[in-house]
Amino acid sequence: MEVVIKKNGEECCSLAAKLIAGVVRQKPGAVLGLATGRTPELMYSELVRIYREEKLDFSKVTTFNLDEYVGLSPKHPASYAYYMQEKFFRHLHISPAQIHIPDGLSKNVPASCDDYEEAIRKHGGIDVQVLGLGTDGHIGFNEPSSSLSSRTRIKTLTQKTVEANRSQFSPEETVPRHVITMGIGTIMEARQCVMLAYGESKAEVVAKMVEGPITAVIPASILQLHPKVMVIIDEAASRKLRLIDYYQFVYKNKPEWQRYE
Ligand code: GLP
Repeated sequence: MEVVIKKNGEECCSLAAKLIAGVVRQKPGAVLGLATGRTPELMYSELVRIYREEKLDFSKVTTFNLDEYVGLSPKHPASYAYYMQEKFFRHLHISPAQIHIPDGLSKNVPASCDDYEEAIRKHGGIDVQVLGLGTDGHIGFNEPSSSLSSRTRIKTLTQKTVEANRSQFSPEETVPRHVITMGIGTIMEARQCVMLAYGESKAEVVAKMVEGPITAVIPASILQLHPKVMVIIDEAASRKLRLIDYYQFVYKNKPEWQRYE
């Protein structure tokens, strides 16, 4: 795991955007695994800036999102399809056929999950997967105790996650309990992962993910077994790590050819 500590969330997102832009420049037909949540919002706006000002071409890229709420249409403002459209896709030249998000309205959830896995395979697998981190250690919507080799499937959220998501819904709405998420096994097959986490509220779980034991109770800890993960965190989220000095030393001494900035 490469742990990069930046000053704040903005710098974290800017580095993640540079990394994604680098992948797309090198491989214009890259397959991107994308995440939602508050964390990557600035990464998307930075990528849109790079698209506009540096003419980064997304027209050949394919995308697969991590997750979606069961029962929400893409028109619902809390749906991840809506989020992606608003924050990213509508600003780019990218055809809807290249965009994949689990179908929250599917009449046959298991079949649509299998189709999702098949589509990822057909496109040659994910080149780079962006991840956020739930305060309980979830990635995508793989809540604690998820099988570490799971595939895309329906999951029931924890009460804590339901509460955390409540702000995205109006007071009279019921927050969905069920979601479709890429599995942990699916995520682990991405050729590269970029984990973004910042702010004090993530400090404890970041330490567990990076330096704790690998356990299904902290699903993100499985990333310790992934061959190519960059964990981009800010100073506030790094506070509970034991090897901060070493991570900073490594980044400072990183060979030029391995750098994104
Ligand atoms: C949500 C999403 C995750 C996200 C995480 C953290 O429940 N399903 O993909 O990474 O929680 O959210 P945030 O970035 O808002 O802290």
